Amino acid sequence: MKKKVALIGNGQIAEKVHIAYYKKREEIEIVAVVGATEENVKQFAERNSIPNYYTNAEEMYTSEKPDMVSVCTPNRFHFENVMQALEHNCNVLCEKPPAIKAEDAKKMLELAKQKGKILAYDFHHRFADDVTVLKEKIDQGILGDIYFVKVSALRRNAIPGWGTFIDKEAQGGGPLIDLGIHMLDAAMYVLGYPNVKKVTAKMFQKIGTKKSKGAFGLWDPQKFTVEDSLFSYIELENGGLIHLETSFALNLKLDVKEKTIMNVELCGDEAGATMFPAEVYKDDQGELISLFKREAADEDRHMKSMQAFVNRCLGGNDRLADGEEGYAIQKLVEAIYQSAEKNESVTL
Ligand SMILES: NC(=O)c1ccc[n+]([C@@H]2O[C@H](COP(=O)([O-])OP(=O)(O)OC[C@H]3O[C@@H](n4cnc5c(N)ncnc54)[C@H](O)[C@@H]3O)[C@@H](O)[C@H]2O)c1
Repeated sequence: MKKKVALIGNGQIAEKVHIAYYKKREEIEIVAVVGATEENVKQFAERNSIPNYYTNAEEMYTSEKPDMVSVCTPNRFHFENVMQALEHNCNVLCEKPPAIKAEDAKKMLELAKQKGKILAYDFHHRFADDVTVLKEKIDQGILGDIYFVKVSALRRNAIPGWGTFIDKEAQGGGPLIDLGIHMLDAAMYVLGYPNVKKVTAKMFQKIGTKKSKGAFGLWDPQKFTVEDSLFSYIELENGGLIHLETSFALNLKLDVKEKTIMNVELCGDEAGATMFPAEVYKDDQGELISLFKREAADEDRHMKSMQAFVNRCLGGNDRLADGEEGYAIQKLVEAIYQSAEKNESVTL
C-alpha cells in the first residue's frame, strides 16, 4: 500500500520542491494540502492534481490519516504544525528554520523521540555531492585541524518580494534565519556539529527600510522589520572560529552572475577547502596546489534532501538533518540574534 503524504502550506517551496519530488515516487501518494485561505488552497490543489484540500489541519488529519507530512508554512507556524503532525503519529519533513525559538525546536525534538517518529528539516545544501565528498576528506584528516571557517550567504539587493520574508513576526528575522542558517548548517555538518562556546554578532537594517525594488521584486519598506545584513563570530569549544556574513541587501560588488552567494570556506593547518564547488587546496612554498576539485557544484541537492526523507520513511537508513541538529542550529541562531540585539557576546 502506498504511504500517504499531506502538505501543510501551499506556497512556492511546497509546489516547486515537495510536490515535485513526491510525484516522482510511486511508493507514495499526495492525499491533501492545507492552506490558510480556501480560495488559494483550492486553486493550488487543482493545479497540482491533489485530491483534497483543507483550511483546518485537524480536519485533514481526521479525514486523511496521512503517514507523512511536509510543513511548508511561514516560519512562525512551523512549531505548531510539526507538533500537531507528530501528535497524529506522522513522520515530518519541516522546512527550515526548524522554528523561531530554540525552546520550540527542543519540544519538537522531544515529541518526535517520544512518538518514535522521523523529524527532519530541509537543510538541503548539506545533501549536495560537494558536501558529501568534502566531509569524507575532512573526516580523513586531509585538512588537518580546521580552525577558521568562513560562512557566506550574501545578496547585494535581493530582498524577497513575495511571502512574509521581511516580516519579523512571521519569520523570526531576515537573512540569518532565512539564508545564513543554510550555510551555517552545511558548515556545522561537515565539522560534525561541534559545541559552540560564545557568539558575538552585529546586525543592520539600512537598505530594506529605504528601497522598495530589487532583484527579487518589490517590497513595502514600511513593512520591512527584519535585519538586512548580519555578521557574527562564533567561537567553538574546540578552539575554532566561524565567521558568518549574511545579507538580503548589502552594497557589495558580488563577483558572480548569481543574485546570491552561498558558500563555506574551511581553513585547516594542513589544507583549505571551498564547499561549492568542492575544492581542496594547500600552499606549497607560496604556490597554491589543488588536491581535489569538482568542476561544478551539485544543483540537484534539493531533490536529494527530499529523497533522504522519503527513503527513511520507507525504511532506509539515509542520513537526515534531524531533530537534534535542528535544535542545535536553532540555539545558535537564537544566540546570534540575542548578541546582535544586546550588542554583547552571548555564552552558550
Ligand atoms: N529549503 C529552502 O531552500 C527554502 C526555500 C524557500 C522557502 N523555504 C521555507 O519554506 C517555508 C515557506 O516558504 P515559501 O517560500 O514557500 O513561502 P510562501 O509565502 O510562498 O508560502 C507559504 C504558504 O503558507 C501558507 N500558510 C500561511 N499560514 C499557514 C497556516 N497556518 N497553515 C497552512 N498554510 C499556511 C500561505 O498561504 C502560503 O501559501 C518558509 O519556512 C521558508 O523558510 C525553504
